[in-house]
Amino acid sequence: TTRSAPPMAGLPGGARSRAAIAAKTLRTDRWWFAPLITVVGLGAWITYATVRVFMHDFYWVEEYHYLTPFYSPCVTESCIPEAAHFGRILPGWWIIPDAALTLPFLLLFRLTCYYYRKAYYRSFWLSPPACAVPDGHKTYSGETRFPLVGQNLHRYAFYAAMIISLINTWDAILAFHSPEGFGFGLGNLILLGNVVMLWAYTLSCHSCRHIAGGRLKHFSKHPVRYRFWTVVSKLNVRHMQLAWITLGTLALTDFYVMALSADWFNDLRFIN
Ligand code: FES
Repeated sequence: TTRSAPPMAGLPGGARSRAAIAAKTLRTDRWWFAPLITVVGLGAWITYATVRVFMHDFYWVEEYHYLTPFYSPCVTESCIPEAAHFGRILPGWWIIPDAALTLPFLLLFRLTCYYYRKAYYRSFWLSPPACAVPDGHKTYSGETRFPLVGQNLHRYAFYAAMIISLINTWDAILAFHSPEGFGFGLGNLILLGNVVMLWAYTLSCHSCRHIAGGRLKHFSKHPVRYRFWTVVSKLNVRHMQLAWITLGTLALTDFYVMALSADWFNDLRFIN
């Protein structure tokens, strides 16, 4: 029989300590670049989104019925009535985002997403910043305690994100509008592109993949779920890219709607 060393106190799962190497890390490549670019990218996006959400303006283009996803659905009393497709049911106080019914769920969905977890654990918390680079913290309790045990809510946030994707799709359909009736412009392409990417990101979710094909013993007995699982699995390998692409399409869509609404330039129209 082989004898194993006793588990090290403080390390989860009774893991053994690392080899006694004096250097902080033996990596000589630019391992810090990915965490750095993640901090810059996520930081810039969060700043932009926060400013826009509390601006309470430039979210609706009356002529073409373009509504930015940051204000969808617009549900406070300060919403422009035509932009409030689901009614104005909340008070119009500055502190309440106009899309207060959906933004908390979207935030929860993204915060608990498996990819974003990896991204901010590494870049913001340095836990650890990269493979084979020591943790920035002395202790490690994983996701077993409050508040990180809340990451398990991701599977429920996924259902909310599905509903929100449906609402965004509805917004994109309503936007085929012009003062003469039907209309089609560059704004429609941007709104549609955003919705397609949001669906791709949402369906590529790891929870979605589990819902599609998890806990099955025999794929052969569940051909429809197997098909769905196959499609989701193909999207799933691109989940990180889709996470970043959707941040880009969301910001672009919002910026375009803001620019039209503020009369910085006109929409490029193909029909009407
Ligand atoms: Fe990223 Fe579900 S794992 S959205």
